[in-house]
Amino acid sequence: MRAVLVGPPGAGKGTQAQILASELSIPKVSTGDIFRANVSGGTELGNLAKSYMDRGDLVPDEVTNAMVRDRLAEPDAREGFLLDGFPRNVAQAEWLNKTLDDAGRGLDVVLELKVDEEEVVKRLSGRRTCRACGHVQHMAYDPPKRAGVCDVCGGELFQRDDDREETIRHRLDVYREQTEPLVTFYANAGVLVGIEATGTVDEVTGRALAALRARA
Ligand code: AP5
Repeated sequence: MRAVLVGPPGAGKGTQAQILASELSIPKVSTGDIFRANVSGGTELGNLAKSYMDRGDLVPDEVTNAMVRDRLAEPDAREGFLLDGFPRNVAQAEWLNKTLDDAGRGLDVVLELKVDEEEVVKRLSGRRTCRACGHVQHMAYDPPKRAGVCDVCGGELFQRDDDREETIRHRLDVYREQTEPLVTFYANAGVLVGIEATGTVDEVTGRALAALRARA
């Protein structure tokens, strides 16, 4: 299966992508995670991406597309993938269509996670991420058993730099202006399925798996 997750910041794309990729036995390809790994590693790509990410702006398309091209060329992504956070604007979506077409492939499904903005702000301002294993928790919805400590590996939980309220509001503006048009773009292509992404993580996973399997 070749699938894309789309939805506002904090919709639960990363949370669901981790579970869905494992259930469907396909690799999760998260552009946000790849950028953050490069920022932590102090690479040239990370240094370039950091200023855009800290402001909540999109990293330029040519940089992002080249990174995705390299990742999708890896052997584990040949038979399928779940893209999380890419594409993020119509130009990236057109580039992806062309890249897949050139390889004789196409997208099977684009899953839209729908959540209202106030819920998104609550989710992002309470999000904490593990520095060691990347596990994501929430101070109210999935509180750590020990303050500041990851439930999965015991690593240190931290707040992402772009999860301050002012930056969250800007990311939502960027989503509305640049990413939301993808909903119409993919609906016109006949591959869009939307689900409500409120309720527990398990409830959302159930809806997502049903929607994806119906397109498999
Ligand atoms: P990225 O990492 O992709 O950020 P995002 O799209 O803003 O999404 P988030 O990771 O913030 O949220 P999410 O939907 O994954 O939610 P999560 O599962 O964590 O991108 C970051 C930056 O990188 C961008 O701003 C940009 O600069 C750059 N970038 C990335 N891709 C790019 C591209 N293609 N082009 C250019 N630039 C790009 O959940 C959020 C919280 O809610 C967590 O605490 C979680 O525990 C909780 N939660 C999840 N589900 C539920 C639920 N059902 N109920 C209650 N709480 C829940």
